Amino acid sequence: MRRRAEVAVVGAGAAGLVAARELLREGHVVAVFEKSARAGGTWAYDPRADADPLGRGDHGAPGAVHGSLYASLRTNLPRQLMGFSGFPLAGRVFAGDPRAFPGHREVLAFLDAFAVESGVAARVRLRAEVLRVRPLGLGQGERWAVAWRGEDREVVEEVFDAVVVCSGHCSVPLVPKIRGAIWSLPFSSHLTAVIPDKTSCSNASMLVLWVTGIDQWPGKQIHSHNYRVPEPFRGQTVVVVGLGASGIDIAREISHVAKEVHIAARYSGDRLGKIELYNNAWMHGEIECIQDDGQVLFAEGSSVAADTILYCTGYRYHFPFLDLDGLTVDDNRVGPLYKHVFPPKYAPNLSFIGLPYKSIIFQSLELESKWVAAALSGRAPLPSEEDMMAAVREHYRRMEEAGKPKRHTHTLWPEWVEYLDWLADQVGEPHLEAWKSEMYEETLKRIWSLDEGYRDLWEEEEENIATGSP
Ligand SMILES: Cc1cc2nc3c(=O)[nH]c(=O)nc-3n(C[C@H](O)[C@H](O)[C@H](O)COP(=O)(O)OP(=O)(O)OC[C@H]3O[C@@H](n4cnc5c(N)ncnc54)[C@H](O)[C@@H]3O)c2cc1C
Ligand SMILES: *[C@@H]1O[C@H](CO)[C@@H](O)[C@H](O)[C@H]1NC(C)=O
Repeated sequence: MRRRAEVAVVGAGAAGLVAARELLREGHVVAVFEKSARAGGTWAYDPRADADPLGRGDHGAPGAVHGSLYASLRTNLPRQLMGFSGFPLAGRVFAGDPRAFPGHREVLAFLDAFAVESGVAARVRLRAEVLRVRPLGLGQGERWAVAWRGEDREVVEEVFDAVVVCSGHCSVPLVPKIRGAIWSLPFSSHLTAVIPDKTSCSNASMLVLWVTGIDQWPGKQIHSHNYRVPEPFRGQTVVVVGLGASGIDIAREISHVAKEVHIAARYSGDRLGKIELYNNAWMHGEIECIQDDGQVLFAEGSSVAADTILYCTGYRYHFPFLDLDGLTVDDNRVGPLYKHVFPPKYAPNLSFIGLPYKSIIFQSLELESKWVAAALSGRAPLPSEEDMMAAVREHYRRMEEAGKPKRHTHTLWPEWVEYLDWLADQVGEPHLEAWKSEMYEETLKRIWSLDEGYRDLWEEEEENIATGSP
């Protein structure tokens, strides 16, 4: 007999919506809790920004801004890679934006339509914030109490068989520590603390002396979570830290109004120096430190007097409503988790959807959701707790062997296809079509080309293919 579970889904972004659809399809009873006033999560553009530009506030607090999109944002994946099975984004227009890489409104309208058509919209409770999730039954986790606060501010506790966490992970900024210089200063007068740190200065094996830290730097600092429009950077010299999809987009956008843009990136390698495609942008190594004279020093030895440092350095996993024995976030590793989804101790009744990144995200959200739904019903039984733990330890061991830091635990690339196919096998779905993986890898290459026109160029090429013109 298939088990029919009462399931609470936390969050109504892309992950929560597709999780709810798959749970319903599998015959479960579903309630989706969404703290904001609408579904769509990240894709609901929020013009507000956090009071602190680095987003160092309390992220459980009301008023903390969830959204991280900038006004001009267009998808970094083509439409073909952003649909759900039976409900594609390609070949249809949802908010009047038919472009191959549409703006954020188009994706939001797509998600709205998906929620309605799949019957999920009716299961979403808006303005319902989950405050705490705890297992009942002496740590055996037989059932789960979900405490949530509704629009009337009253806190209610409801009991479910299972909880699926879909609360997103692009809201709490990850900001690297940057330190002031030490070599030009008389030590004794500036020394405030001695901290061992292996990450941010070249003399990695030494004890590093913390002197005039970034906190004393007179310039502005902001994380991309709080970046919305380029105008505030007009005429400025801006250092953009990080070369992910957002870093590249934002550096390009700012270069049109800024005096100079300097990109600081770990893997800038053979591309150091002036970026040919722009008049006023340069590529550097990582920030080494802030010099005594206030200039930003880069790893390759050049330095610049900057007005602002803009961090496009990613986000931290943060689950303020979860306080569970043996489940931690350590250096951005959520663990232990079997295949990024199930904490072995609480499986299958507690699960996480959408933690891995660097893959075709919507596809992995859907496959993870199908797996959770089938694990809960008993159609896809999980290994024993011990075996799942052994698999987690093996994953960690392989990472260590390869010299990968903990914080890269949930990065799928370059083994992202293996992960998607492994999930598909669990639930009897076909493997990823080759054209999709090729399209994804091709997209990454184009993002990296730094070419402003990569999105529209793609479109022209597609049209040419369709019409047979050269
Ligand atoms: C700048 C940027 C650009 C991106 N571009 C792309 C792209 O081009 N293509 C792509 O595929 N992906 C892109 N992504 C990734 C994007 O995060 C995913 O597409 C997708 O939105 C993830 O959905 P999610 O449901 O996991 O999280 P979210 O969209 O963040 O949704 C989480 C939801 O949970 C709710 N929530 C959180 N905590 C609680 C609580 N305690 N109680 C109740 N509700 C809660 C939030 O309000 C939110 O609605 C981008 C992300 C960013 C930040
Ligand atoms: C999961 O839920 C089922 C049914 O409510 C329960 O029998 C089982 O013990 C739970 N599993 C764990 C590990 O808590």
